[in-house]
Amino acid sequence: MTPRHSLPKLNLVVLISGGGTNLQSLIDAIQGGELHAEIRAVLSNEPEAYGLERAKKAGIPTCVLSHRDYLDRSAYDADLAEKIEYFQPDYLILAGFMRILSSGFVQRFQDRILNIHPALLPKFKGTNTHQRALDAGEIEHGATVHLVTEKLDDGPNLLQASVSILEGETAETLRQRVLKEEHRIYPAAIQKLATGEMKISDGQIIWTHNETE
Ligand code: GRF
Repeated sequence: MTPRHSLPKLNLVVLISGGGTNLQSLIDAIQGGELHAEIRAVLSNEPEAYGLERAKKAGIPTCVLSHRDYLDRSAYDADLAEKIEYFQPDYLILAGFMRILSSGFVQRFQDRILNIHPALLPKFKGTNTHQRALDAGEIEHGATVHLVTEKLDDGPNLLQASVSILEGETAETLRQRVLKEEHRIYPAAIQKLATGEMKISDGQIIWTHNETE
């Protein structure tokens, strides 16, 4: 195995729309030496996203590209892709980016877009996952880091973490406990790509070492 100190850092561009706690977990993991990567830029479609402040505090370049300034999705995605390519990322990290990406965009960055979804995929794709898990009477719920493919919340999983659903649980308490797990598994999954423990090729996740986390 290549010694860790000689591995190149992964270059990341992180896409957000909101508070950016997952972004913060990546910044913290990089600063703490647990994630061998550099966040080249943070892009948001929402000018008021608090995650932009988190990026600025960490000295990371930011860029706002408001979807409201575009007539259609393909025009927006084309500009977004151009902005991203300027930073030459190895991976695009969706961290609460609340937009569906067009097929053309996904194809352009094939095998290089990751997302974190607040549910144990393939269960509960889409939104409102915590309430839906409670309504369905699930006994466990969780989060998934997955590869983004052209179908929504459908790509193969890199890592999952589960939590038990407790007595008297509400969507909010569940959201908070799942979010804590998200902050653990997102940096961990990206680190596995950085070390080569995991590779992505032709839409498949390939484990090159032991699959236990
Ligand atoms: C997270 O729950 C993530 O799973 C989902 O959007 C939320 C973003 O939260 N995709 P934050 O902006 O990272 O705090």
